[in-house]
Amino acid sequence: MSSKKVLILYYSGSGNTKKMAKAIAEAMKSSAINVTVEDAVKFDISLLPNYESIVLGSPTYFSNVAWQVKKVIDESIVHYGGGKLKGRVAGTFTSAGTKRDGKDCLKMLEVALGFHHGMKVVQGIIRVDGESDKDVEKRCQEYGKKLLKEIEK
Ligand SMILES: Cc1cc2nc3c(=O)[nH]c(=O)nc-3n(C[C@H](O)[C@H](O)[C@H](O)COP(=O)(O)O)c2cc1C
Repeated sequence: MSSKKVLILYYSGSGNTKKMAKAIAEAMKSSAINVTVEDAVKFDISLLPNYESIVLGSPTYFSNVAWQVKKVIDESIVHYGGGKLKGRVAGTFTSAGTKRDGKDCLKMLEVALGFHHGMKVVQGIIRVDGESDKDVEKRCQEYGKKLLKEIEK
């Protein structure tokens, strides 16, 4: 049986979102799942349909996603919109200065993956600047496990 492929795609200006991506990936390691972590800036969009599940992360910039992530979102809809990714499991995460603004960023990610792609979005997570690494790591690990359950269904 070939293992399911999961893509964790992120952009990170100062490393916080990247840490989340790695912690989520760590929690998802299992024999039945093949996890790839990619920087959105270097990602080749033509590889997107190869993944059964996509987890998208962005820092919150101006209550929104970073443009590097928006670029990938737009390209994904241009190339693979119209239901090509429909029904696949999606996840979202952000690192933000404030929880309120982080929620706005998550909403943008959810609209892209849930509404435009018709993917099955598992409610995302927010890291807020100043939180302890331990707390964030725990949240990321729990989220990774939650995604795993949904993917393995
Ligand atoms: C250009 C810029 C804009 C930002 N805008 C917001 C914002 O609107 N709301 C907020 O809560 N945090 C904002 N922040 C703070 C970042 O979201 C926060 O520091 C985050 O942890 C950065 O993640 P990163 O290390 O992955 O880049 C901004 C940071 C930068 C550099």
